[in-house]
Amino acid sequence: MAEDLKTEVKGMVLAVRDLPTLPTVLEEVSKLVENPDVSTDKIGKVISTDQVLTAKVLKMVNSPIYGFPGRISAINHALVLLGFNVIRGIIISTSVFDIMNQNMKGLWEHSLGCATAANTIARHADLDGPEEYSVSGLLHDLGKVVTAVQLPQMHTAIQEKVKEKDVTWLEAEKLVLGFGHNRINAWLADHWHLPNNIKEGMAYHHAPHLASNYPAMAATVHLADFLVKLYEYGFSGDDQVPPFNPEALTILKLRTSDLEKILDDLSDKFVEISDLSFEQ
Ligand SMILES: [Fe+2]
Ligand SMILES: [Fe+2]
Repeated sequence: MAEDLKTEVKGMVLAVRDLPTLPTVLEEVSKLVENPDVSTDKIGKVISTDQVLTAKVLKMVNSPIYGFPGRISAINHALVLLGFNVIRGIIISTSVFDIMNQNMKGLWEHSLGCATAANTIARHADLDGPEEYSVSGLLHDLGKVVTAVQLPQMHTAIQEKVKEKDVTWLEAEKLVLGFGHNRINAWLADHWHLPNNIKEGMAYHHAPHLASNYPAMAATVHLADFLVKLYEYGFSGDDQVPPFNPEALTILKLRTSDLEKILDDLSDKFVEISDLSFEQ
């Protein structure tokens, strides 16, 4: 019975590809990744055919989230500096959130906050390629958005459970669906051919100790999600501060003194990113 529901939900979630509101560029860009010989120029040309999307991507890459404020004027330049995976992640998140519009303003802010926090944590923990950590943070609750788009009745049922039982969104999802957005995230990551490191951050941000290949990614997104909720930046669907797994700090080799520096950095950055909030 539970398996049947899971298969049915998976089918409906992945029908997201047929949504007419998703830009065609997203599907084209997802296909390009299958060709290892594809050039930056070619990818840049495909993205640039969609001017609205291009403007949104440039706004994101120039934001304080990524640490190149105001310096990137062309998609090609963004691809070279941040890499194809990061740009694809940004395209996915802006495209999917766009469908929801103002209804998901709080979750968009929560995601931007998490992207910012993940970048800051990755830098403090001396991890390579902090931009990929940001993107995993940006996409970490995407399953919630896709549920709202594809399964609006279930989304409402989850929302009601959160209120009625005073539980976290994840707990409510488990009560309604039998599983959480972490699992939906893994399906979506596969669907859009995202690399495994970004996928593990999305799929294990509530249980970083279970990430088998990229525990540092999962631990970074886990800590980022926790800090953003602690700061009450944005709204992730419930008012609870999620349970924090201290193993995340061990995985990242961070001490309490590092955490203090991260918190200092973040309070400044949250002010700076607030102008990205939702007229995107
Ligand atoms: Fe989550
Ligand atoms: Fe979250």
